Amino acid sequence: MSGLRETDPEIYHQISMELERQQNGIELIASENFVSEAVLEAQGSVCTNKYAEGYPGKRYYGGNEFMDGIERLAIDRVKKLFDAPHANVQPHSGAQANMAVLFAMMKPGETIMGMSLDHGGHLTHGWPVAMSGKWFDASFYGVNAETGLIDYDNVADLVLQKKPKLLICGASNYSRVIDFKKFREIADSVGALLMADVAHIAGLIVAGIHPNAFPHAHFVTTTTHKTLRGPRGGVTMCQEEFASAIDKAVFPGIQGGPLMHVIAAKAVAFHEASQPEFKTYQNQIVLNAKALAQSIMDNGVSIVSGGTDNHLMTADLRPIKMTGKKASALLDTVHITTNKNTIPNDPEKPMVTSGIRIGTPAVTTRGMKEPEMKIIGQILTDKLKNPEDAAVHDKVWKSVGDLCSRFPLYRDRLAGVR
Ligand SMILES: Cc1ncc(COP(=O)(O)O)c(C=O)c1O
Repeated sequence: MSGLRETDPEIYHQISMELERQQNGIELIASENFVSEAVLEAQGSVCTNKYAEGYPGKRYYGGNEFMDGIERLAIDRVKKLFDAPHANVQPHSGAQANMAVLFAMMKPGETIMGMSLDHGGHLTHGWPVAMSGKWFDASFYGVNAETGLIDYDNVADLVLQKKPKLLICGASNYSRVIDFKKFREIADSVGALLMADVAHIAGLIVAGIHPNAFPHAHFVTTTTHKTLRGPRGGVTMCQEEFASAIDKAVFPGIQGGPLMHVIAAKAVAFHEASQPEFKTYQNQIVLNAKALAQSIMDNGVSIVSGGTDNHLMTADLRPIKMTGKKASALLDTVHITTNKNTIPNDPEKPMVTSGIRIGTPAVTTRGMKEPEMKIIGQILTDKLKNPEDAAVHDKVWKSVGDLCSRFPLYRDRLAGVR
């Protein structure tokens, strides 16, 4: 039997180069992380061969006794982590996890309300280019432009005006605590259902660092690959009364056969998230985010809302007269990876932006702590403030190399060997 290197040297080469890129760069994309060897092993397993349409004990294909065991473990583990009455672990991604709720509860043309994409919300919360925006009558709340915080009184007013059938909270880019209890009170004021998309803060919730969306939300959706540190994928959880509607929405509503290799890897990640070390890890993610935000501010770049309570922040680059587009491209040249991101009421176009989003889950996985965050804040701002300076470029490049070699990643996976 031939391995990947022999069967497909071109793909083998690209994967090897990607491994090297991950090993030799500072990863600050807030939605990315590095999974454990155990998660990689489960995801690369023979479970990819199996069709398992349906649910444990009720499959449309034979031979599913072990797939049933895997899916049951994944469900039980994730329910325990989030204190969820019901969980469906089959959504292929965060987008599908959200689509399942919309498909289960809403008819085309009905009203939804979410956080505006340009204030930190997500495409799947009703943005016009997405299915959620095309099929439903979507309106939006945002953050206060001065404080960068969700103004709950304003959300309550908008909800009273628009009377959405489904209110969505949760964000892709919000650095402060989300008050799920308050969102539920606002939803109740008009008899709306509440969906909390905790994709970004899932790990923090599991560790007890951010308040849980249960029991407040009717539906809680998440990705499994961000702070939760699992394989790419989604989970839709809900109150018991919606269990059957959600399961029917996921399959056969919006998906076919589940990705059983990914569900096996999700189960492994849920096991890892239940261990005491996970709490320590999540705590360090937040300590690191606070230290990095402080270092960036100490070096003359603003942070939206003046800091962070979670794993991410948005640097407002207007004080140094730089756009997000230029900043992320410049940082790429020194192997620091970020993404351009709008700031609230951004004067720049969405493909340009005035900010970059920065997160600490991935660097924390490598073992970095506050002293390293101070260095990263310094070198990142140094590069942005001196874009053309070759000496600064060399210094930053050297620091990145030094950090990466001091905090190795996938130590046993040498490029060109596996
Ligand atoms: C809040 C939120 N929900 C949903 C998603 C969608 O997840 P996926 O990319 O897995 O579809 C994301 C991804 O960035 C997200 O940030």
